Amino acid sequence: MTRVLVTGVRGKTGSPLAELLAPRPGVEVLGGSSDPATVTVDGVRPTAFSWDDPSGWPAATDGVDAVYVVRPDRADAPELIGALLDRTPARAHVVLLSEQDADSVGPDGWALRAERAVRGSGRSWTILRPSWFMQVFTDPRFYRDRLVDTGELPFASGGASVAWIDARDIAAVAGRALLDEGHAGRVYELSGPEPLSLPRTAELLSRAAGRPVVHREVSIDDAIAGTGGFERELTALTFERVQAGVFAVVTDTVHGVTGRPARTLEAFLAGSGPVLGRAA
Ligand SMILES: NC(=O)c1ccc[n+]([C@@H]2O[C@H](COP(=O)([O-])OP(=O)(O)OC[C@H]3O[C@@H](n4cnc5c(N)ncnc54)[C@H](OP(=O)(O)O)[C@@H]3O)[C@@H](O)[C@H]2O)c1
Repeated sequence: MTRVLVTGVRGKTGSPLAELLAPRPGVEVLGGSSDPATVTVDGVRPTAFSWDDPSGWPAATDGVDAVYVVRPDRADAPELIGALLDRTPARAHVVLLSEQDADSVGPDGWALRAERAVRGSGRSWTILRPSWFMQVFTDPRFYRDRLVDTGELPFASGGASVAWIDARDIAAVAGRALLDEGHAGRVYELSGPEPLSLPRTAELLSRAAGRPVVHREVSIDDAIAGTGGFERELTALTFERVQAGVFAVVTDTVHGVTGRPARTLEAFLAGSGPVLGRAA
């Protein structure tokens, strides 16, 4: 039996990853969440896991052969990840969810420091560096409610495109990296199949929602309004990277690792009409 801890199991990549792994024969999936009572994926064992409570880490990592680490977006992420891996069995393979072109991200190279905590952990590792997720359009914690309520997609693109990636494709790559041979020591830059401008993205969202959605170009100051501290700094840097075209870069790594091409935004949105408020 291969025991896998999936942190962030309620999240955009953790949830499809758990769904993918749970039916696999010989695989036991521990679904890590700060709110395990809400973990309802069939065949997944809900497991208390919170970055704020290291006392729960030994139980969550007990006997695991592999761990999927969803990087927490907080200033102390590099230290937290290092401390978690110290308490993880030495034989465990670690797959870290980082982000595209992480070399230049965050205060003092924060994203790179988070990756270094994994590289220097003494465990075998794979690092995933994805572009922006398509699921930001359907997640109520991101753009979904704004799209439905106002028909607007406010986004500080600076005219640059984004090669949106389906989080299920990231999960598929993570699943391979967690269970199969040949992924140790690899850094995978992951993107969707095509760079899309924000007006084109809004056009595709309009079609899926069955009513107009328009892109509204905003400044980075507008985009970070209402945020503070580390989140503010990280969000501002992220939009600077958007505007520099970092997330427009297309790779064929999803295809290379999983054997099938990355999903298009059109294909993703085909099933998302109801979530985007499309009338039945
Ligand atoms: N979003 C993107 O486009 C994108 C792109 C590239 C990289 N990344 C990176 O990927 C990592 C994960 O980011 P994410 O945006 O995809 O977050 P996420 O995994 O969707 O959510 C993160 C965590 O938020 C908690 N959570 C709180 N309320 C929730 C709710 N109602 N439903 C589901 N989860 C809830 C969950 O942890 P608990 O269950 O423990 O509370 C969940 O695992 C970050 O490091 C981010 O920088 C994101």
